[in-house]
Amino acid sequence: MSRDLLVDLTRRTLEHARAGTVPLAGAVGRVPATHYYDPDRWALEMERVFKRTPLVLGFSCELAGPNSYKAMEVAGTPVLITRASDGSTKAFVNMCSHRGAVVVEPGSGTARRFTCPYHAWNYDNDGQLVGISDRDDFGDLDPSCNGLTPLPCAERAGIIFVGLEPNGEIDIDAHLCGYGDLLEFHGFADCTFVGSQSLDGPNWKVAYDGYLDFYHLPILHKDTFGPDRSNKAIYDAWGPHQRVSSPDHRMMELEDMPEADWPEDVLTNGVWTIFPHTSIAGFPVRVDGVEGGGRMYMVSTLFPGADPDSSVTIQNFLAAFDPTDELMPEIAAQQEFLMYVVREEDYFTGNRIQRTVKTGAKTEFLFGRNEAGGQRFHGWVDRLVAAESADDYRAVFAQAEVVFQR
Ligand code: FES
Ligand SMILES: [Fe+2]
Repeated sequence: MSRDLLVDLTRRTLEHARAGTVPLAGAVGRVPATHYYDPDRWALEMERVFKRTPLVLGFSCELAGPNSYKAMEVAGTPVLITRASDGSTKAFVNMCSHRGAVVVEPGSGTARRFTCPYHAWNYDNDGQLVGISDRDDFGDLDPSCNGLTPLPCAERAGIIFVGLEPNGEIDIDAHLCGYGDLLEFHGFADCTFVGSQSLDGPNWKVAYDGYLDFYHLPILHKDTFGPDRSNKAIYDAWGPHQRVSSPDHRMMELEDMPEADWPEDVLTNGVWTIFPHTSIAGFPVRVDGVEGGGRMYMVSTLFPGADPDSSVTIQNFLAAFDPTDELMPEIAAQQEFLMYVVREEDYFTGNRIQRTVKTGAKTEFLFGRNEAGGQRFHGWVDRLVAAESADDYRAVFAQAEVVFQR
C-alpha cells in the first residue's frame, strides 16, 4: 500500500525531472518578521504548539533492551522515558514527588530503579514510588499516590512520541493524519541507534525553515554537498507533516528500470518532516568511497531554547544495517560532516538572521511559490497558535488534508 503510493509519487517526480518543471504554490507567502522573535508570540507557540503536540523524543531502537531509559530536557520540562516492566514505553516528568529535584541525570542507560539525588527516594521504571528514606520518621504517606507524574507517550513506526502536558493525553493517529504508514516504510524499528549530537541554533522556526527549503541547497551549501543539487522541491503533505522530494537529475536513472525494481532508498528519498520539529534525511554509508554498509538516517529534532532567539537541535543517527567496527569510522565521519554543514552553513546563517530580523528594517519575510512547504508550515503554526482551547487544537487537526503536489 505504502509502496504503491511511493511509486506513484516517484513517477510524478520523475515526470517533473524529465520536463524540468516543478509544481508551484498559488502565490507568494508572507510571514511577519515579529513571528521570529516576539516574546508574546513565542510564549503562545510554546503553550499551544509545543505543549500540545506529540514530540519526537526517542526511538524504539534507542530504548531497545529491557529497563532502558532516557532522560532529557525538552522546552523547559525534564523528561524521563523508560522501557517499562511490561515492555511498553512510558514517559514522566523527571521530577521528584518529595520536593521537586530532577531524579535522573540527562543521558541514557539501563536501570530498574531510579534514586533521587536529594534525599534518595526511589522510583521504579513504571514510575511508582518504591522507597522513602527513613520512612518511619518521615510520616504517613501513600506511595501509590506519589509516583512520578506521567506524560502521554506513544510508540509508532519505531518512533517514541511524548506530549509535554502532565497527565495529559495524545491522539497519535489524529496527529499523524495517515503519515504513520509512510514512516513505517523507513523501518526505524529495525534500525540500530548509533548515537546523537547536539548543536545550538537560532529561533526554532528560523532553524526549521531550512529543513523544508531546497531553494538554498546549491547556494548556501556550495562548498559542501550542494553544487550538484537541484534547488527545486515538491511538497507532499499529510496534515502538517511534509515530505520534500526533488526532481533532480538522479531521478533519470529510473527511466530504464521497471517500477517493480525501483529501490527503496529512491522511493523514500528527500526529507521527511514530522511537525513541528523533526526532519528525517537518509544517506548511504560508504566503505572506502564505495557504497557499502547501507542506509543511515539522520533524524534532527529541534527544540526551542530558553528564549525566542535560541534553539537546540539533536541530530540522531539510525543505521539500517549492522554498524560493525569496520563501519564505525565512516559513520563517525558522516556525523562530523553533518555537524559541520548544519553548524557552519545553516545555523551560521540562521544566527545572523536572528540578529537582522530585530532591526525593524523588514516587517515580513517572503516564501515563494517554489517554497510551498514553508508556506504550509507557517500556516499550521498560525492556526494552532490561534487555537485557544484543546478542543480548538483538535478541530484544526480534524480539518487536516492529505495533499500531493502534482
Ligand atoms: S527531592 Fe527527591 S528525595 Fe527529596
Ligand atoms: Fe541547509
